[in-house]
Amino acid sequence: MDLKSQIILDKLPRHIAIIMDGNGRWAKQHGKPRVFGHRNGVKAVRETAEAAAELGIEYLTLYAFSTENWKRPKLEVNALMTLLVETIQNEIDTLNKNNIKLHAIGDVAKLPSKSLKALQGGIESTKNNQRLTLILALNYSAKWEILEATRQLARQAKAGLIQPDAIDDQIFSNTLSTKGIPDPELLIRTSGETRISNFLLWQIAYSELYFTPTLWPDFQKEHLYQAIIDFQHRERRFGKISEQLV
Ligand code: IPE
Ligand code: IPE
Ligand code: MG
Repeated sequence: MDLKSQIILDKLPRHIAIIMDGNGRWAKQHGKPRVFGHRNGVKAVRETAEAAAELGIEYLTLYAFSTENWKRPKLEVNALMTLLVETIQNEIDTLNKNNIKLHAIGDVAKLPSKSLKALQGGIESTKNNQRLTLILALNYSAKWEILEATRQLARQAKAGLIQPDAIDDQIFSNTLSTKGIPDPELLIRTSGETRISNFLLWQIAYSELYFTPTLWPDFQKEHLYQAIIDFQHRERRFGKISEQLV
């Protein structure tokens, strides 16, 4: 039986987040420079976004560049930034055709101006699309995001706009860059690494984690289906016991 038909459509996660990892190792396997891996990673992004949209997933967050990734060789960082511009420009029509809305989280103001412009252009031109929201985490760091929210709330408290004791889960969530977006029910990381690498720390408090050895450029629709099927077979107890779940 094919994988897609095993997915229970009324038990889909609303939001899937992916740590796209393994481009460098994939390139090495093919005897090519790392940048070749990143270029092929774009194909996996296309496949995954299309599969998610077809299924009816509402939000797909892809970790594309972490704050820590600036520490990579300059050549690779530059190549990634150029690839971002090219990809957004090349994909805008497809995004619009597939009714996908582009969004970004992270400290994007620190991206090179060309990359930022391309990103803003992509967001603007897809803003009325309604099927899937594709969120790119760019120059993203979960600790940075949490600190930013904390600083913002502290300023509000100092100005007397909010009582410190009134700060709760909801207020804090609404101060993060993912405001208005439900927390991901499923977090996928490719390439066999089993760490979070400073991604969505607050939002994944109760996410189901799925690790696969598949390297990101090899990730195809079927891999996403497999992850969703796995997710659908888990019992999400949220602190309760099995018998309490309806
Ligand atoms: C993920 O692949 C892409 C980015 C972090 C931008 P890597 O480039 O980390 O690939 P590996 O981990 O070196 O194989
Ligand atoms: C995490 O991958 C960041 C992205 C996928 C953008 P890395 O390859 O940078 O993570 P570490 O350094 O191995 O933890
Ligand atoms: Mg990596």
